[in-house]
Amino acid sequence: MPRILITSALPYINGIKHLGTLAGSMLPADVYARFNRSLGRETLYLCATDEHGTTTEIAAAEAGQDVSDFCALQHRIQYDLGRRFGLSWDHFGRSSAPQNHRLTQRFAQTLWEHGFLEERVTQQVYSLADKRFLPDRYVIGTCPHCGYQAARGDQCENCTRVLDPADLINPRSAISGSTEIEIRDSKHLFLRQSLFAGRLRSWIESKRGEWPLLVTSIALKWLDEGLQDRGVTRDVAWGVPVNAFEWGPNPEGRRPDIQGLADKVFYVWFDAPIEYIGVTWEWADARAVEAGRRGAEDAEWERWWRLPLADDVVYSEFMGKDNVPFHTVGFPTTLMGVNERQDGEGGWVSAETRPWKLVDQLKGFNYLDYYGGKFSTSLKRGVFMDAALELLPADYWRWWITANAPETSDATFTWEQFQAQVNADLADVLGNFVNRICKFTESRFEGRAPDGGEPGELEQRLARDVAAKLAELTELMEAREFRKSTTALRQLWVLGNQYLTEAAPWTAIKTDPARAAVAVRTGLNLVALFAKVSEPFIPFAAEKIATAVGEPFPGRWPEPDEALSALEPGRPIAAPDVLFRKVEDAQVAEWLARFGGPEARVEPA
Ligand code: 2FM
Ligand code: ZN
Repeated sequence: MPRILITSALPYINGIKHLGTLAGSMLPADVYARFNRSLGRETLYLCATDEHGTTTEIAAAEAGQDVSDFCALQHRIQYDLGRRFGLSWDHFGRSSAPQNHRLTQRFAQTLWEHGFLEERVTQQVYSLADKRFLPDRYVIGTCPHCGYQAARGDQCENCTRVLDPADLINPRSAISGSTEIEIRDSKHLFLRQSLFAGRLRSWIESKRGEWPLLVTSIALKWLDEGLQDRGVTRDVAWGVPVNAFEWGPNPEGRRPDIQGLADKVFYVWFDAPIEYIGVTWEWADARAVEAGRRGAEDAEWERWWRLPLADDVVYSEFMGKDNVPFHTVGFPTTLMGVNERQDGEGGWVSAETRPWKLVDQLKGFNYLDYYGGKFSTSLKRGVFMDAALELLPADYWRWWITANAPETSDATFTWEQFQAQVNADLADVLGNFVNRICKFTESRFEGRAPDGGEPGELEQRLARDVAAKLAELTELMEAREFRKSTTALRQLWVLGNQYLTEAAPWTAIKTDPARAAVAVRTGLNLVALFAKVSEPFIPFAAEKIATAVGEPFPGRWPEPDEALSALEPGRPIAAPDVLFRKVEDAQVAEWLARFGGPEARVEPA
């Protein structure tokens, strides 16, 4: 049986995430993790906050907080919200954790020693007053195109043109406002990605047909445009320090310029993916501490990442399409460059007895929009995780988002469509079914699964239909086709409703109690089945449903032929409280007013 390693793109630390972020990474990863666990597979679902870089420094400064306090607080907030959304992370770590620092430095050092990191001198803006280099966004000035006076060095918010800090008229520091600014040379490390173009291409070609077309086409487009070497260090304070003191010589026998690199940190996109490994180490450390066996942790995390220990691991990553280049080119280059080196004669040789594992399954998503425009963190446009949970329980959101997963194209959230779909699927179909059959058991069978009667043709047909639909659902889940999976699951729920309508135990009980008993018992078995197969999608409701019919939770994913035989006669049954209240028109009107609808459609700068 394979072991399943799952990561979802690491959410940026700066602020609470909106539903779009959930839709393209954390939620599908969670659904898939829950599915795998219910199949009895050893599964590890890991995520973490992505904490470093300029954006974080700016957000902390705006909040008037020290950057490490800011991150600690925001990490806690995101952790709590994730838990309340039912995200079943085995660990939710932090890219600023010491484990990630160590790994990032170790990988960079190896890349240097293999000749894949190179020093280059670049020109950067320096502020005399602040005594520091200013990254693009720390430089503000007048836009040369539109005259906007508070344009940032990377982009003008007013006319959206992409800028270079050197383009700005009257440039000044965003930190102190000082105009005492000059351009200075600054030494940086560049990752020689261009050397890896051939290796990356054959790796990605080998995934054609297996990975979504969206993913392979984005990756190949990048390669077709020609891979550039990439600066992997920055002149900022908050990050993993380069710390090149103990680095060995590169193949030319040179050591890095320690002085020139002294105040640099790694670029956030260099250290963030390494945190996938870092968080595995954090997870293992946390478990070791819990179990009182400190020091035994290394082997535990390495068995998920290093071959041949990890030969039986299937690693799946989940992310939005904007992340795909970093995960098909950037991070794989880091790992390949650690695992292998060039032999000096145009060939490559293995450099690692326990090479690091590359991703097996990369699931990329398009965007979820809000009324056809972007969700926007900076403009606070759309629904964010905290507000969503104020309005409705997590399962409503989980269901709607998964049922509308932006897999083949972008998808759009509207309150009207949300209302229609959750009312129809959750309240009318699933909730109604569970309620009807459990209530009837309470009122006519003293709250116990009835005995007696023999299943007839109706039940045989149901068993065949259920087995076929369940097999289809299982196959779709294995293939990480989430939208289609929710369709198959909804069809299973509908089969239950249709069966109850035809079997009509409420009529049968008047003339043929044995027949009514069969129908009710079958209906209760359907309830037990629904609890199991709905758990990955709507875990909170699934638990209530399981409890209603005395099933363990979380249960095992059923085999098609055992789907309707879980419940023994006599088992106590207790109808749950209302599982799903309908979303009312008045609520939709209120939320439209609060969050804005189509008229709030502004494209962020
Ligand atoms: O796009 C984002 O939200 C990034 N924070 C994702 C990082 S994923 C990983 F590489 F760390
Ligand atoms: Zn402008």
